[in-house]
Amino acid sequence: MNAIEVTNLTKRYGNLNAVNNINFNIEAGKIVGIVGANGAGKTTMLEMMVGIRKPTIGNIRLMDTDIHENEYVAKNKIGVLLQEQCVNKYAKVIELFNFYHDLYENPIDVEEMLDTVNLQDYRNVKFKNLSGGLKQRAALGLAMINNPDILFLDEPTTGLDPEARRTLWKAIFKFKSDNKTVVLSSHYMDEVQKYCDEVIIMKKGEIIQKNTPEALIKSVGDNKFMDDAYLYYAVGEEVG
Ligand SMILES: Nc1ncnc2c1ncn2[C@@H]1O[C@H](COP(=O)(O)OP(=O)(O)OP(=O)(O)O)[C@@H](O)[C@H]1O
Ligand SMILES: [Mg+2]
Repeated sequence: MNAIEVTNLTKRYGNLNAVNNINFNIEAGKIVGIVGANGAGKTTMLEMMVGIRKPTIGNIRLMDTDIHENEYVAKNKIGVLLQEQCVNKYAKVIELFNFYHDLYENPIDVEEMLDTVNLQDYRNVKFKNLSGGLKQRAALGLAMINNPDILFLDEPTTGLDPEARRTLWKAIFKFKSDNKTVVLSSHYMDEVQKYCDEVIIMKKGEIIQKNTPEALIKSVGDNKFMDDAYLYYAVGEEVG
C-alpha cells in the first residue's frame, strides 16, 4: 500500500519553480530520506505534503485521502516536525505535551511519549530554556503524540551532537516499528545511509534519483558511501 502519492506537484515563487512537476509514491512502512543542496526544494515539498503550503499545481494523497479535498481527515493521520519550531516557547514541556495530547482523538499517553523521547527529567522546564537537542526531542514527541500513520520531519537532527542524534533516531525507530511511514530531510549522509530504506535526491526543484541507499551507492562505484552518491548526483562531482 502507498502511504503517500504525489502527482504533478509544482510550487512557483514568481519565476522560480521551487518544486517542479514532481511525481512519486512512498510505500507504507518505509523510512524515506530527502536530500539535496540548500534551496533544492526539500522544505517546500515537505510543507506542501503536510498541507502548510498550497501547491501551484498538483495533488497529494496521504493514506488514500486527498489532502485538499479532505484536509481535516488527512491532517489527523500525520505528525509534523518543521524546520522552524513553532510552539509556545514559554510553556513547560509537560504543558506542551498535555496541550497537544488533548487536541487529538486517539493520542498516545503523555508519560509514554515523554519516555519515548527521553524527556522525563525536563518535564518542568520551559521550552525556551531547553538546549537545541532537547528542543528537537520535545518537537518530535509533539509530532508523534497523535499516533499518526505518517511522520514528516524536516531536518530533525541538524545541529545535534552524536548522542542526541542517536536518541532521536531511536525514537523514530520505535515509532516506525508499527508499519508506519517516516519522511525526513537531512544533510547527514551517514545517517541517511544507515537508517533510510529509500533516498530521494532533489536538485533545483526536481527529483533526480529515488532508490535504496545501497543501489545509489553501488551506482557510483565500488567501496563508496552515500556522500559519494550525493556529490555525484546532487552536485555533479566526479567520484574519485
Ligand atoms: N516563501 C517563499 N518565497 C519565495 N521563495 C521561496 C519561499 N520559500 C522558499 N523559496 C525558495 O524556494 C527554493 C527552495 O527552498 P526550500 O526552503 O524548499 O529549500 P530546501 O531544500 O529546504 O533548503 P535547505 O537545505 O536550506 O533547508 C529556494 O530557492 C528558496 O529561496
Ligand atoms: Mg529546508
